[in-house]
Amino acid sequence: MNRKITVVGSGNVGASAAISIADRELADVVLIDILEGVPQGKGLDMLQACPVEKSDSRVVGTNDYADTAGSDIVIITAGIARKPGMSRDDLLNTNFNVMKQVTEQVVKHSPDCIIIPVTNPLDAMCQAVLRLSKFPRERVIGMAGVLDSARMRAFIAAELGVSVENTHAFVLGGHGDTMVPLPRYSTVAGIPITELMDKETIARIVTRTANGGAEIVKLLKTGSAYYAPSSAAVEMAEAILKDKKKILPCSVFLQGEYGIKDLFVGVPVKLGAKGVEQIIEITLTDDERAALMKSAAAVKELTDIIGV
Ligand SMILES: NC(=O)c1ccc[n+]([C@@H]2O[C@H](COP(=O)([O-])OP(=O)(O)OC[C@H]3O[C@@H](n4cnc5c(N)ncnc54)[C@H](O)[C@@H]3O)[C@@H](O)[C@H]2O)c1
Repeated sequence: MNRKITVVGSGNVGASAAISIADRELADVVLIDILEGVPQGKGLDMLQACPVEKSDSRVVGTNDYADTAGSDIVIITAGIARKPGMSRDDLLNTNFNVMKQVTEQVVKHSPDCIIIPVTNPLDAMCQAVLRLSKFPRERVIGMAGVLDSARMRAFIAAELGVSVENTHAFVLGGHGDTMVPLPRYSTVAGIPITELMDKETIARIVTRTANGGAEIVKLLKTGSAYYAPSSAAVEMAEAILKDKKKILPCSVFLQGEYGIKDLFVGVPVKLGAKGVEQIIEITLTDDERAALMKSAAAVKELTDIIGV
């Protein structure tokens, strides 16, 4: 491979992302963690899966950032995850300290990389990484909207008994309880779901999407979701590495778009080799705009607390 992706954090999301990158033969993978032995063990295990999966991705686990040098993309999953009863915001201070340690090392060894933060509270952690890295905004792209949209798509497909491939869903806003699923822009084979389902059904899907993470935390009891989150992060990495110009909802640093300034919020963007290549502004109704502003205000509360 002449491409390299580093995954920081070899826990549930990080390890799942690493194996998914290797399975798709997208790039060589470096899995790094502060835990000694865990990234090495998981990395070796993944390397041994590669012959079976017919993948020539080289996977290595490490505790040394020197091994991550020259990465094209760095996916940050390091930090603590939610337990039942916790909100994403309860993770704020602990994970901000993790972002400080991680970002310094990432920038030192891969100054030209594109960073995809996954750690929660997502939008605030993205802002921390942007400020700490001093990267241009095109190169720090948070993963949340792809996951939230995937959750909504799964629920739409199940409700209507159609292929997930026919579904498209839009979720904007911060990755939290105030996220803004947009039924008007969510479609099945191009038909808005507002023409396919009654209001009550849509409202139920929207609520379940917004609580999608909490539903899984409650079931797992010891941690939070990781299969769909890692798939979502890898879809973003793939769009960048293959320069696909794919339009995906991502958390990006808005500078006036949607009337929001200097804040990470989830909106549709075009992802290509340069990272964020375009921020797409869609027309919103007054209610949708108000919901987006409320969501942005919730993100700002957090960024103010950590001063980023
Ligand atoms: N953005 C999203 O949509 C989304 C979805 C799911 C999970 N998450 C978040 O992703 C993060 C990881 O979740 P998880 O389930 O993989 O947690 P996990 O506990 O399974 O793994 C976290 C890993 O990070 C490592 N770590 C901690 N501090 C570190 C440091 N300074 N440097 C390197 N590694 C360090 C830990 O040792 C651990 O292995 C959490 O913050 C979680 O809330 C976000």
